[in-house]
Order: sequence, then C-alpha cells, then structure tokens
Amino acid sequence: MGDLGEFDSSFIQALEHRPKPNASEAQGIPLIDLSPISYHEDIERISETDPASIEELVKQVGSACRNWGFFQVINHGVPLDRRQRIKAAAREFFSQSLEEKRKVRRDEVKIMGYYDKEHTKNVRDWKEVFDFGVEDPTLVAASPDPDDDRVAYWNNQWPEYPPKFRETCEEYTRDVVKLVMKLMELIALSLGLPAKRFHEYFKDQTSNIRLNYYPPCPSPDLALGVGRHRDNGVLTVLAQDEVGGLQVKRRTDGEWIGVKPTPDAFIINVGDIMQVWTNEAYRSAEHRVVVNSVKERLSIPFFLNPAHYTEVKPLEDLIDEEHRPKYRPYVWGKFQVIRKRSNFIKLNVNNIQIDDFRIAD
Ligand code: OGA
Ligand code: NI
Repeated sequence: MGDLGEFDSSFIQALEHRPKPNASEAQGIPLIDLSPISYHEDIERISETDPASIEELVKQVGSACRNWGFFQVINHGVPLDRRQRIKAAAREFFSQSLEEKRKVRRDEVKIMGYYDKEHTKNVRDWKEVFDFGVEDPTLVAASPDPDDDRVAYWNNQWPEYPPKFRETCEEYTRDVVKLVMKLMELIALSLGLPAKRFHEYFKDQTSNIRLNYYPPCPSPDLALGVGRHRDNGVLTVLAQDEVGGLQVKRRTDGEWIGVKPTPDAFIINVGDIMQVWTNEAYRSAEHRVVVNSVKERLSIPFFLNPAHYTEVKPLEDLIDEEHRPKYRPYVWGKFQVIRKRSNFIKLNVNNIQIDDFRIAD
C-alpha cells in the first residue's frame, strides 16, 4: 500500500471536519425505480405510448434534484455483470505493488492513470485512484490562459495487468453513458425543457471515470477517504460497494447522512455545472467519504462533463425578468485545467470554484 502505510500528518482533518462515530442513516436519500425507461432507447417515444409512467418518473427526479441533489436509481438497465467485472478488475489492479501501479502513474503531463496523493481542500485523502477518460483522447484546453485558444489531448494509460482491464472499463463506460444521457433527458423534462435539450453539450465530452480504492485506515477518526466537496461537473453516477462510507450533507440541518449501500443501485448526484445551468433550481450537494479500520472499499464514479469549449451559464430558457442570472459565464475547459493543475502545485489559496462566478444578490 506504499506510503499510505504510515499515518502522515497531511491526512489529518481539522477538528470540525472529522467524522462523528455514529452517523445517521435514518432519512435516506430518495430511491427511484427506472424500470419504465430502462429497456427503451428513446424516452420521447415512451412519452407518446405511456405518458403517465414518464410523468411520474420526471416528477420524482425533479423533486430529488430540487430537495437533495442526491438520489439512488434501481432497475437502471446497466447489467449487473458489467459492474461486477469492473469491480473485480479494479480490485486486482489495486492489489498490485506500488511499483507496478506507478507504471501508469498520473503526472502534470499524463493526466489520466494511477495516483495516490489526491488532496481535497489541501488535506490528503485516504485513498488511491485510477482515472480514465470516456473519450480517448479527451479534447481539452491547452492552458488556463483565457486568450489561449490552443487545444490539447489527454490520453488514457492502461496497465498491462489485470488482462482485459481496458476492455472491461470501456464496456462499463458504454453502458453508463447510455444511462446518464437518459437521466439528462429526465432532468430536462423535469425543468420543462425538451428531452434532448442538453445533448449538444456532450459531443466532445470531457467526462471521466475514476476507480477509487480506500484501504483500511488506522485512524478513521482523523482522516477522510475524500474530504467534503461538491462535484464540479454536470452529474455524477456512482457505483459503491457494500462497505459504505459515503455521506451527504442534509440541506435542512447540515447533518452528515450516510448513503446506505443498496445492492446494484447507482447513486446520482447533481454537480456544480447543473447548479449554474438551472440557476440554482437544482444545487450540487456537499459530500465526503469516511473510512474504517477494517475493510477496504471500492467506488466507481462517472463524472459527466461537457465539451471543453462550453461556456457555462444559466440556461436562457430558465431566465426572465423574475429569474435573473445568478452566475457570470465561465469556460468549462479553463476551469478544468486549473483544477487539474492544482493536484501538482501546493496551493495557499482556495482553488477555483463556481462561487467565484456568483453574482451577489
Ligand atoms: C468522488 C466521491 C464518493 C465515493 O470521488 O468525488 O465523492 O463514495 N466519491 O467514493
Ligand atoms: Ni464527489
């Protein structure tokens, strides 16, 4: 497990951010059954043949996005064996020696691959990760400079072991892309927009998948697997295993609520771009991961991100005299490269965030 073995002070959370021993799981996040849409390619067609089933689903998705920014879906159409296969491949990959894993290590130039020094808000996370792009290569901005129009490519790095690792990851990706685009249609409908309203943003998507491995931690009372944060993309589709540890901050009282593992469910959460697009009708939820001293844990988030040249701003369709835009536009690709760079340079200031573009009330 390499240098995660020693308990280094860089992992220690400030007192107010340390996990409480008995987090509540009582008021669970909404659970939505996607069976009405999971075996059809086209939601618009189903709305013609069975409008009632779609209307009910759209209502549930809308209220989960509005009230929680977090929900789980079941009967989502992604075959269980796809998920079992990627989980097994991830487990085998992370079980190798550090030396082997570092053959596909991520750095300032190679953005995708293995990494074991991830920080959230300048505190080190108790985990190892492996990142790969949904598009390979991923088309991105070459630099954070607003006047620089050059583009760059992020290439995936694939390990030699375990065999078929790449194929397994790519098959899983194809299925999750289908699911996430259907979810985006339901979300569009829930906002009173045409089902395919969001599709244009994903032609050159910069989405990525991350395999998260959380080893057992000798001091789970001091460290976190991932510190408190909001996902900065559009929407996240997360597969977690049966161990548990993901917590969401409940809006009503600021309490951290554990997301109880539901077999074969995906956890969906609203990201910051969705918050800006909807002008805060749907807000991204703060979340974090607690670790434990006994069990290792795996999770697999898919981060849906638009093309790098997307100018992110409240959708014109949702803006009028009474709904003034709450954000100034920003270019996603510039935001993204600043965030990626911050992994390799120690920051003394807060990293870039959507609050930087918030227009004062
Ligand atoms: C993340 C994240 C949650 C989890 O990687 O952004 O929030 O359960 N992960 O691993
Ligand atoms: Ni997250």
